[in-house]
Amino acid sequence: MPPNVKRTYGSRHERTTLPSSSPPSSPPLKRKRSFLEPISLQNLPPRPLVKRTKLSPSEGRTKKAKQPQKKLTQLHFCLDKTMLRTCPLCELSYMKGAPDDETLHQTHCARVRKGMEWGKEEEKEAVKANVREVAVGVRLKDGKQGRIICFNADVGGKIGSKLFALLETINRSLSSPAMTAEALQASKAYLFLLPPSTTSGREKIVGCVMAQQITTAMAIASPNEVKANRSDGSPATSELVAVDATTGLFCLPTPLPTPLGIPRIFVSSSHRRQRIASELLTAAAATFIHGCKLNPREGQVAFTQPTGDGNAVMRHWGLGGIRIYEG
Ligand SMILES: CC(C)(COP(=O)(O)OP(=O)(O)OC[C@H]1O[C@@H](n2cnc3c(N)ncnc32)[C@H](O)[C@@H]1OP(=O)(O)O)[C@@H](O)C(=O)NCCC(=O)NCCS
Ligand SMILES: [Zn+2]
Repeated sequence: MPPNVKRTYGSRHERTTLPSSSPPSSPPLKRKRSFLEPISLQNLPPRPLVKRTKLSPSEGRTKKAKQPQKKLTQLHFCLDKTMLRTCPLCELSYMKGAPDDETLHQTHCARVRKGMEWGKEEEKEAVKANVREVAVGVRLKDGKQGRIICFNADVGGKIGSKLFALLETINRSLSSPAMTAEALQASKAYLFLLPPSTTSGREKIVGCVMAQQITTAMAIASPNEVKANRSDGSPATSELVAVDATTGLFCLPTPLPTPLGIPRIFVSSSHRRQRIASELLTAAAATFIHGCKLNPREGQVAFTQPTGDGNAVMRHWGLGGIRIYEG
């Protein structure tokens, strides 16, 4: 790239709006790194996910000791630091003064904080799109009541477009890639809707859980399993899969049959800690497979590599039984 080229979110946007069926030609700039991939440095705002490190059972400590340290090269960017802003509300970094970036940020920020609308257009298509209401009168901690709807994630029409926009916001927030067409085909979207608070008469989508049919996942190693030493004295972690070494989240490598995966979970920031994520997860576990209620305690639900918030919910809601899978 010529030294004076400035990249802006406006130019990144084209890539993030690729239809989900077209995999990006190169990894999106800001993405949730798979825990089975090597780490790469990105010219990106600091995100908790980027901090994660992965050590596979076969690599890690010993490799580090053997290899001579590579000569580090200083990279020079001509981005004017005074122009690069990280919004404290939505954590997006963007170029102040670049119109495309500012517009993109404004839309993203509002969606992250307040959620999107579930409008009359979507409601009109609800029957055709086979939208099911799976819970009503769900009471939150602040006393408000909402409902949970569910539909197939590969739905088309207005509802498909709304889900696409919602997932785009979630992916940008989580630095995750778009879900593939195959993953969407195997998934259902669960949305938490709050009744209209203004005269606009439109419900708000304040939470979303994507629930995906999967086959296997790994059990999370207990603290004792992480601390233990093998008979030859080497640390047991060398045989575990490190999902997040910074928080000490390790898995036992054996794949175990697991029916339900949660590849995305998101609640708009002004509605967090109200039990919305927990209610969505409960609804998904109860209704994802018709006539078969899944129990997280028994290892029937798995998350992809969780964020810090995701980890907290996973442990609280999953009561220690949640597994991990590669989404
Ligand atoms: C993770 C997320 C979906 C949780 O949504 P939520 O509706 O606030 O979660 P809940 O209210 O159901 O939380 C249930 C419990 O989980 C724990 N918990 C949730 N968020 C937590 C946090 N940030 N810190 C500590 N504990 C937390 C608490 O024990 C909480 O119960 P409490 O509020 O009574 O203490 C939300 O924080 C979010 O969207 N974060 C950004 C996106 C993200 O990181 N997604 C996870 C991807 S794996
Ligand atoms: Zn913002």
